Amino acid sequence: MKVAVITGAAQGIGSRTAEVLAEAGYALALMDMRSCEATLAAVQQREADAKEFRGDISDEGVVIRAVAAVTKRWGGVDVLVNNAGISFIAPAEHMQVEDFRRVLEVNLVAPFLLAKHFGAMMLKQRAGSIVNVASIAGMMGVSDRSAYNASKHGLIGLTRTLAAEWGGRGVRANAVCPGWVKTEMDAADQARGTYSDADITGRIPMGRFASADDVARAIAFLADPALSGFINGQALPVDGGWSVDASWESLRMSKR
Ligand SMILES: NC(=O)c1ccc[n+]([C@@H]2O[C@H](COP(=O)([O-])OP(=O)(O)OC[C@H]3O[C@@H](n4cnc5c(N)ncnc54)[C@H](O)[C@@H]3O)[C@@H](O)[C@H]2O)c1
Repeated sequence: MKVAVITGAAQGIGSRTAEVLAEAGYALALMDMRSCEATLAAVQQREADAKEFRGDISDEGVVIRAVAAVTKRWGGVDVLVNNAGISFIAPAEHMQVEDFRRVLEVNLVAPFLLAKHFGAMMLKQRAGSIVNVASIAGMMGVSDRSAYNASKHGLIGLTRTLAAEWGGRGVRANAVCPGWVKTEMDAADQARGTYSDADITGRIPMGRFASADDVARAIAFLADPALSGFINGQALPVDGGWSVDASWESLRMSKR
């Protein structure tokens, strides 16, 4: 049986990834601070063997306990999806250092802790795939997101380092870099009035937001050694062309 650990599985991209991996036959460890009840029901409907692990993943004790429980229940792990993350929008000159540190703790230190402890199991097995959910904000600067952008740039750096360090022992590490995705995170960010749907759709060549499913399918591809077995250390944009489009706005819009 293949086993996948997914963080931030209660909603959004993590929840949809759980459904897609359940359909691909994985047993699932669902980690989140919130209840994963809805995701658990959805994956069990797809006949997945699944268990919820509740806690703050930036706490190393929570991660170590999850590793012990996964080992006891399934004996190993094939896939780690580091998906949980938090957004923080503020001009850099007004950013409080404790907020900056919290974003780094959740978006960068926690994925490192999960990779370290679940990766140790993978290294013993000499097989495994780690998929980190970064962002196009890990490839370019987006104003008012100093901590978020720094955390996602760091996560891509971590991905490349793990790929270099562990690839020779059968463990791959890759990242997906979504553009804007219609999830609760987007709803919460838009509720602060910082951008609108039109700002985003106007900037993307394909003229729409990503869906959680778009991102989940890319994660499932990078997770599966039969589909992506020689892909290691890559950061795959899932952004409808945002990161390659240097057109000015009127030129882009003239192509719609
Ligand atoms: N939504 C977007 O537009 C977008 C774009 C690019 C990248 N991403 C990234 O995709 C990932 C998922 O985003 P989403 O939109 O589904 O977010 P979301 O806010 O809808 O869901 C995130 C989940 O992570 C959980 N979580 C947050 N902090 C946690 C912690 N410390 N411990 C355990 N669980 C925690 C939350 O409870 C929540 O269930 C994030 O890493 C995010 O940065 C999102």
